[in-house]
Amino acid sequence: MSSLPLESVRPALPLPPDERLLPRPHARLAADRTALLQPATSGQLALQLPSELPHLPIAPEWKDQQRLWGHSFHPMCSYLASFPAGLVHAFIARYTRPGDVVLDPFSGRGTTPLQACAEGRIGVGNDLNPFAHILTAAKVDPPTKSDVKTRLAALRVNWAAAAAGWNEIAERVTADPGSPEILVPGAGTRPVGGTIAIRPDASVPAEVALAFHPRTLAQLLYLRAGLDADDRTDRFILATLTGILHGKSASYLSAVMPNTFSMAPRYVRDFVARTNFHSPERDTFGLLEDKIRRLYRQPVPAARGIALLGDARDSGLRFREALQARGLPERARLVVTSPPYLRVVKYGYYNWLRLWLLGYDAAAIDDLLDDAHHRDAYLVFMREVLRGLRSALADDAVVALVIGDVEMDRGRPANGGVGLAEAVWEMAAAPEGYRLAGIALDDIAAGRKMTKLWGDEAGQATKLDRIVVLATSEAGRRRAIYGASLPIDWSWPPRAPRAL
Ligand SMILES: C[S@@+](CC[C@H](N)C(=O)[O-])C[C@H]1O[C@@H](n2cnc3c(N)ncnc32)[C@H](O)[C@@H]1O
Repeated sequence: MSSLPLESVRPALPLPPDERLLPRPHARLAADRTALLQPATSGQLALQLPSELPHLPIAPEWKDQQRLWGHSFHPMCSYLASFPAGLVHAFIARYTRPGDVVLDPFSGRGTTPLQACAEGRIGVGNDLNPFAHILTAAKVDPPTKSDVKTRLAALRVNWAAAAAGWNEIAERVTADPGSPEILVPGAGTRPVGGTIAIRPDASVPAEVALAFHPRTLAQLLYLRAGLDADDRTDRFILATLTGILHGKSASYLSAVMPNTFSMAPRYVRDFVARTNFHSPERDTFGLLEDKIRRLYRQPVPAARGIALLGDARDSGLRFREALQARGLPERARLVVTSPPYLRVVKYGYYNWLRLWLLGYDAAAIDDLLDDAHHRDAYLVFMREVLRGLRSALADDAVVALVIGDVEMDRGRPANGGVGLAEAVWEMAAAPEGYRLAGIALDDIAAGRKMTKLWGDEAGQATKLDRIVVLATSEAGRRRAIYGASLPIDWSWPPRAPRAL
C-alpha cells in the first residue's frame, strides 16, 4: 500500500481539520512486521484459542427479509461488497440501546452507521476512500428534504440561464472525445454566476465523453463544477448523482454500463466503436428529483451520525476525538464492519466514472487502499486495525467482523483466502487481547454476490462469509454469547423506538 497522502489525490478541496489524515502510527509498526505476525506466545494461545473455534448461533435472518430492508437512504448508490442493512440490525438490536455509539472503521457505502442512526444509535463511519466517505456522510448527516428541494430548484433556475454555454462546451467535448485542448471547470470549482470560463481545470477523458448524450453531459459538467462536497445539501445531491450515473434502465444517465460497477475505460471505448453506441438523452434534474423522492420515502434517521475520512489503523483515535468534539459518549458498544476482502475488489478502478464525477483519480485511490494485500500482509494490517480501535471501545464492547473466504483471486485459485476468518482471530485479534465469542456463518449464494466480476469462477470469489464476533472483556464476551440467540423484531420501519 502506498503512503500517498490523501491531499495529493485532490488538492483543490481541503478537508475539515478533524477529518484530515493524521500521521499514521502504523508506519512505526511496519518495521517489525515479522514480529507482528507471530501469534501470541504458545502459553497465551493455549489459553485463548480453542482447537475448534466456537460457533455463535446468530441465525442469518437478514436473508429472509425483503431485498431493500432498512432505511430508504441505503440504496442511494450501489457499492461493491457492501453487506445488507439487515445484517447490521441483527447486531444493533441485540447489543445496543438507543443512544449507544456504533462504529464501522471500513464504512463503505455507510450501511452500519446509517442503520445505527435510523435505529436511534449514534452511527460513526470511517473509510479511506473519498467516494465511500461522501456516501457515508450524505446518509448520516443528511439535509432536510425541503433543503434538497430548494437547492435543486435553484440549480435548475441557474441552469436555465447558463445552459447554452454548457451545451456548447459539451458538444465540443463529444465531437472530439478525449481532446486535451478542450478544458472544462473541475469538480467543485463552482464557477460564479453559471459562467464557464473560470478556472478551466482539465480535459474530459474520452470514455466519459462517450458515455453520455451531449446535453446530459452538459448538465453533469455544470453540476460537477457547481456542487460543493463540503456542504451538507450539495453533498447529498452529489452522492445521489453518483447513484444514477450509469445503469441499464431509463432512470440512469448513461446506459453504457451496469449500475453495480464501472466497466473498464477501454471496454467502454471498444463497445462504443463496435456497436456505434449513442447514449440516449436523459434529464439529469428530473432523474435526480425522482431518486431523491425515493430516498426520502422514510423520515430522515432519528439520530445524526459522523463520517470520517482516514485510515482504519488510526480510526480509534479519530473516532474518540470526533465524538468528544460533539459532546457524545466517546466509546462504542458495538462495531459492525467488513474489512476489505483479500484482493477481490479495486474500489478505484471499478468506480472510475463516479470518481471522475467527484474529481478524484481512480488509480491514486487504488494505491491508497488496503484491498490488494496477500494473506500475511493482510493479517498484519488487521492486527494494526484492531489495535488502533481498542481506545474507542467500551469495556463490554462487541466487535463483529464480516470476513469472506476468498477461493479465487481475480480468476485464479487464491493463496490463503480460505479460513481467513479463523486466521484473523488467531493472528490479529487474540494477540491484541480480544476475546472470542464465536464465529457466525453467513452462507452466501454464490450467484447473488456482487463481486461476480470475473466470469464463471468469479461467483465463488467469496463463497462463505464468516462473522467473527469478538469482545474487549470477559463481560463483553458473555454479553455477545447471551445475546446471540435472543429473538429480535424485524418489522421495518420500526413501530416504536427499538430497545433490547
Ligand atoms: C468490504 S468494503 C466495506 C463495505 C461496507 N460494509 C458496506 O456495507 O458498504 C471495505 C472498505 O474498506 C475500505 N478500505 C480499504 N482500505 C482501507 C483503510 N486502510 N482504511 C479504511 N478503509 C479502507 C474500502 O474503501 C472499502 O470501502
